[in-house]
Amino acid sequence: MATDELRSPLLPPRRPRRVSSAAATLALLLVAGLGPLPSACCGTSRSRHSPRSSPPDPVELTLLAAAHDKGAVCLDGSPPGYHLQTGSGAGSRSWLIHLEGGGWCNTVRSCSGRRTTDLGSSKFMQTRINFTGTLSNDPALNPDFYSWNRVFVRYCDGASFAGDSQHGDQDGNGKLFFRGRRIWEAVLDELMQKGLAHSEQALLTGCSAGGLATLLHCDDFRARFSSEVLVKCLPDAGFFLNVEDISGQRSMRSVYSGVVHLQNVTEVLPKDCLLANKDPTECFFPAEIIKSVRTPTFIMNSAYDSWQVQNVVAPDSSSPDESWRRCRADIRSCNSSQIQVLNGRRWWMASRL
Ligand SMILES: *[C@@H]1O[C@H](CO)[C@@H](O)[C@H](O)[C@H]1NC(C)=O
Ligand SMILES: *[C@@H]1O[C@H](CO)[C@@H](O)[C@H](O)[C@H]1NC(C)=O
Ligand SMILES: *[C@@H]1O[C@H](CO)[C@@H](O)[C@H](O)[C@H]1NC(C)=O
Repeated sequence: MATDELRSPLLPPRRPRRVSSAAATLALLLVAGLGPLPSACCGTSRSRHSPRSSPPDPVELTLLAAAHDKGAVCLDGSPPGYHLQTGSGAGSRSWLIHLEGGGWCNTVRSCSGRRTTDLGSSKFMQTRINFTGTLSNDPALNPDFYSWNRVFVRYCDGASFAGDSQHGDQDGNGKLFFRGRRIWEAVLDELMQKGLAHSEQALLTGCSAGGLATLLHCDDFRARFSSEVLVKCLPDAGFFLNVEDISGQRSMRSVYSGVVHLQNVTEVLPKDCLLANKDPTECFFPAEIIKSVRTPTFIMNSAYDSWQVQNVVAPDSSSPDESWRRCRADIRSCNSSQIQVLNGRRWWMASRL
């Protein structure tokens, strides 16, 4: 749109049309073509309610102060954000940084669809969330990290905090911004000023697309601290398989190819992989990334990850028959040959690890 082009690219675009959240979610699922968003993992506000000894303190969203100056913005041009709960006592110089997940967008259309959701715009983010799991401040629920400084970094770029495109793309609503890597940089800079720079130990973690981001940024995270600081990474449910689906298509690779090219993620890809002249899309898969990660990393992933069974092994594009639909919805409904297929994918992952 000509009028949007005349505005500074760092100004937020016009207000998105109002869409009910159900409609926005549906649009997202259809255009993203990735099925339900991964949600079954990780200690975040999105996980199931767990019993606790005291009610949680909701943690406020902080919008990134330098977002516009640094061009570190969500898909729609709005500032990204994070929730920080300050540590205390023995944990006051320990930090846990959790990168939120939520699939990817691999086309202008699917990225556009995120404009009206919290995965593409801070205008739609809940401003207060409850910290649960490894983010909880309840020692009974989270004995290891409850007293640490804990941060939940919101995901609104659609490319695992990895994209950086000068251009962005126009959709019907103006410019789209692909700035995940700048969001990563700018959030880390701000947290450094808020005490991360004085930490004695720091753990980078994240779930799903945030787990992939954890692997992609692990060594860069490590490099921000002196060698006396203990730094480790923990990608949760982020080991996405570079395998054929049940119809023999590489559907996950085509999703990633879209993300890699549309959002320009080259800068964060492992250099060894690129130097070996591999296709950049290959280098976006954990099986390649882990070859060059030097920082101590604990990879946590189910071999029968339900999201991957539904979206990588038997995605809609593989035209699963009725029996596969039942199997991917509930592993207990799989017949013996389907279990063999799942075990083949499990073996693939175990051998790479
Ligand atoms: C946070 O927890 C409180 C107390 O359990 C609950 O009332 C509230 O609905 C929760 N908020 C969200 C956003 O889930
Ligand atoms: C892609 O990223 C690289 C590295 O950050 C940058 O030099 C290049 O200008 C970017 N390309 C586009 C089209 O934005
Ligand atoms: C299991 O289901 C698949 C998909 O419908 C079918 O092709 C296969 O023959 C079935 N295998 C067994 C052992 O029933």
